[in-house]
Amino acid sequence: MTDSLYHPSRFCTAPMIDWTDRHCRYFFRLFSKEMQIYTEMVTCGAILHGDTDRFLGYSDEEQPLVLQLGGSNPADLGRCAKIAADRGYSEINLNLGCPSPRVQKGAFGACLMAEKQLVVDCVKAMQDASDVPVSIKCRLGIDNLDSDEFLLDFLSALDDIECHHWVIHARIALLQGLSPKENRTVPPLNYDRVYLAKETFPHARIILNGGLMGVDQSLNDLKNLDGVMLGRAAYQNTQVLLDVDQKVFDKETAIKTPFDVAEEYADYIKTLNPREQKVAIRHTLGLFNGLRGAKPWRRYLSEGLSNGEEPLALWDEGLRKIKHLNETTLIESDDPS
Ligand SMILES: Cc1cc2nc3c(=O)[nH]c(=O)nc-3n(C[C@H](O)[C@H](O)[C@H](O)COP(=O)(O)O)c2cc1C
Repeated sequence: MTDSLYHPSRFCTAPMIDWTDRHCRYFFRLFSKEMQIYTEMVTCGAILHGDTDRFLGYSDEEQPLVLQLGGSNPADLGRCAKIAADRGYSEINLNLGCPSPRVQKGAFGACLMAEKQLVVDCVKAMQDASDVPVSIKCRLGIDNLDSDEFLLDFLSALDDIECHHWVIHARIALLQGLSPKENRTVPPLNYDRVYLAKETFPHARIILNGGLMGVDQSLNDLKNLDGVMLGRAAYQNTQVLLDVDQKVFDKETAIKTPFDVAEEYADYIKTLNPREQKVAIRHTLGLFNGLRGAKPWRRYLSEGLSNGEEPLALWDEGLRKIKHLNETTLIESDDPS
């Protein structure tokens, strides 16, 4: 890969509310030093009127880290962009893709795709407030605004104000009658519209999101685009991140095993208080998918955490069990008798 193609957004993990908190992001970082990691969406209200440290705090290891903002008031978004820039985020992203009724009630997220001028005002306010790059994450369209022309016209307005970094979730959002979860599966994926956007705006940095399951498939579907973003696959089957640095960023470092990651994450978990340890451990349920004992690992941790067991002891014992199971299997299969 040439240097000019190197950019952390060539491979990113998606913003996911309740999932990509700071512990999850630290966990993701253990898999890849290079990829770009997104926070969950943080609303302007939470930053301006809530516990800012809680919503914006992060560990340096998480960088390059993108803060995703939710809001539609340009002045508030500008203020939040400034706060985020001062806190060292490497990029600020505006959510234009969330279809949840609660977000629609606040008049932001996906419904903003019908309000092009307001989006322009919001992005401009964010750009003016700091020197940190501003990007957007949008859908292909919403409801009956579902055509190539609509998307290209929408992106053209962003292009005009020098906002050239777009993450596109390659399906429309249906704002009535579907839950957020259904809105991630029911409207069909249409990567072709994203490829068309890149043909139309070749200078833009366009990141493909939606339905990507792993590194190989992502590199295959990348085509003319600049990067890919993985959401559910990265969280639910974290192993898919193990060879990102080697396959996407051409690094010659050794590929870690899930056990290596578990050991490193254990050091991090030990620095947390028990309440946080519980949250941090939940992010590891998919860590051993595909290995012996993956299911019992998930069950053991989920049940133990729900039953209020001491998180660190639970983690140590769970790890000991799954390690033992895999070591025994290895020894057995190596045994020629
Ligand atoms: C639990 C969950 C929470 C999500 N929260 C956000 C969010 O805060 N902001 C956002 O832009 N998208 C959010 N999404 C959508 C994802 O970022 C992504 O666009 C979507 O899951 C499609 O990608 P995937 O098929 O790789 O999962 C969320 C998805 C999930 C599963």
